[in-house]
Amino acid sequence: MSTTPLQRFSEQVAVVTGAGGGIGAATAHRLADEGATVVLVDREEHLAEQAAAAIHAAGGRATVIAADVAVASQVDGVIDHVVQTHGRLDVLVNNAGITRDNLLFKLTEHEWDQVIDVNLKSVFLCSRAAQRVMVAARRGAIVSLSSRSALGNRGQSNYSAAKAGIRGLTATMAIELGPFGVRANAVAPGYIATAMTAATARRVGVDPAEHQQQAAARTPLGRVGLPEEVASVIAFLASDDAAYVTGQTIEINGGAR
Ligand SMILES: NC(=O)c1ccc[n+]([C@@H]2O[C@H](COP(=O)([O-])OP(=O)(O)OC[C@H]3O[C@@H](n4cnc5c(N)ncnc54)[C@H](O)[C@@H]3O)[C@@H](O)[C@H]2O)c1
Repeated sequence: MSTTPLQRFSEQVAVVTGAGGGIGAATAHRLADEGATVVLVDREEHLAEQAAAAIHAAGGRATVIAADVAVASQVDGVIDHVVQTHGRLDVLVNNAGITRDNLLFKLTEHEWDQVIDVNLKSVFLCSRAAQRVMVAARRGAIVSLSSRSALGNRGQSNYSAAKAGIRGLTATMAIELGPFGVRANAVAPGYIATAMTAATARRVGVDPAEHQQQAAARTPLGRVGLPEEVASVIAFLASDDAAYVTGQTIEINGGAR
């Protein structure tokens, strides 16, 4: 079924959070293409079911668990279920994320808390649950979604703080988990065409296609990125091809500075 000759995840089990759309769905598809059994976790169960159906249609193995990754009991339940069902966990992709953009002087405490909880606390919760299994097995790879916005972006003080936090969390997880054969890395995408960036465009009153053209014009490669182009780097970091890579955050932004 594979669109790639690579089969780097044969016999492996991967959990992808926020797998109902965009980068998460593309990553789930890529890992399944390469032989993984993929567990798609999303708050929006119907979206995850659609993404799983596309994997099944391509001949891959996928199951769905509906959960909110910002809630510890639900996260622990997901990982327990995965281990009971599949007996192992090789890859965790911390992808679920949201934006609640506002200029600092208007940003509410609720908008701050929501974004920190879903984007940053969830990475702590999911990684803490996954490492119990991975450390015991003396192997595993965690890949988390940071963002170019970690460097600062107007209207995104909550989001940029969360995404910068993921860099530090990733570096620290690499130090603590490395001795047990578990690697932790992150990717920091620039502008990737998904529902998230389309929503950002509408919020600032710009048509999504026009918004993409504006982003493309300030990008050396002259275009915005595709979810599949993030998925391929995540797959590399999750695979044994990156066996000596840990604690890193890889920029995926078409050369934007
Ligand atoms: N699109 C970009 O340009 C871009 C750039 C840099 C980083 N990112 C990051 O990549 C990740 C994916 O972004 P995307 O553009 O594909 O977003 P998206 O909005 O298209 O998809 C996000 C998915 O996460 C799910 N989700 C949201 N909150 C959840 C929760 N609490 N529990 C479980 N699932 C939840 C949503 O239902 C959705 O299916 C995010 O972490 C985002 O911050 C995106």
